[in-house]
Amino acid sequence: MSTAPAAPQGTVVITGAAGGMGRPAAQRFAAQGRPLLLCDLDAGRLEKLAEELRPTAGKVDILATDIAAADFPEQIIAALNGSPLSAVVHTAGLSPTMSDGPRIFAVNYEATERLVAALLPRFEAGGCMVLISSVSAYMLADTALLGAIRNFVLNGDRTGIAQHMDNPGMSYAVSKRAVIGLVEREAPAFGARGLRIASIAPGFIDTPMGRAEAEDNAQLRVMIGMVPQGRMGHGDEIASVAEFLCSPAASYVSGCDIRVDGGIIGHLGMRP
Ligand SMILES: NC(=O)c1ccc[n+]([C@@H]2O[C@H](COP(=O)([O-])OP(=O)(O)OC[C@H]3O[C@@H](n4cnc5c(N)ncnc54)[C@H](O)[C@@H]3O)[C@@H](O)[C@H]2O)c1
Repeated sequence: MSTAPAAPQGTVVITGAAGGMGRPAAQRFAAQGRPLLLCDLDAGRLEKLAEELRPTAGKVDILATDIAAADFPEQIIAALNGSPLSAVVHTAGLSPTMSDGPRIFAVNYEATERLVAALLPRFEAGGCMVLISSVSAYMLADTALLGAIRNFVLNGDRTGIAQHMDNPGMSYAVSKRAVIGLVEREAPAFGARGLRIASIAPGFIDTPMGRAEAEDNAQLRVMIGMVPQGRMGHGDEIASVAEFLCSPAASYVSGCDIRVDGGIIGHLGMRP
């Protein structure tokens, strides 16, 4: 057994911190006594969460803003105020019932790509960035589209994906597949600095977003009934994996997507 390196102790950034996965992630890192920077659109819920966590966390700052704003990377770097960054759990996102296709893609992928680029140079050694994909990414079966998404992520060529942007469901799935590609693309740059990057693909999770999607979509409700674990997941079951990924126990996990889906994708025989 090799000795695990000590966990870096710098600031943990959590986006979507007021949401169903972000909130339990913030609670977990606060329980470690780590300094937190919590980001979300909703200033009121952020401040309430910060108040709750301040007695246990090292220090809690909030940034209430839109992650898709062009200047979000500068805002977050200013909010870090030079403090060392050790982990990012990036949960902010929009699902198909929440917006139109272009906005979903802008929030879920384009803002994520800018955030990764901006924060990479800010991490202290041993740091980790966790992105959130989705099981929807595994439901895309068209190999031409999968190739087009890869081409987009690697070369910025939108030719094969542009026609899907107006459909919120497709825009969502493409954005999440692109997140998986982004993690694979960025792992060498992170590795070169002694850092890691990985994503989590949640299944059907009982959060405000998960409930809204299930209410809207009968096919989804049928799939929820087929989950081998027999239920929806909880936000904390995603947060616990994010905490693991950011810990020294995951020191050789990088450049990959981890399905936390109660077994549904494997059960349905859907392959990456
Ligand atoms: N819940 C599920 O079943 C499920 C399944 C697969 C993937 N996911 C993904 O998990 C992530 C977290 O989802 P959740 O279930 O916690 O959703 P949620 O809606 O409970 O929380 C998302 C949070 O992100 C914030 N947010 C949204 N857009 C933002 C923006 N532009 N700028 C800043 N903050 C913004 C919201 O205010 C909200 O607090 C998302 O990326 C989602 O796509 C969720």
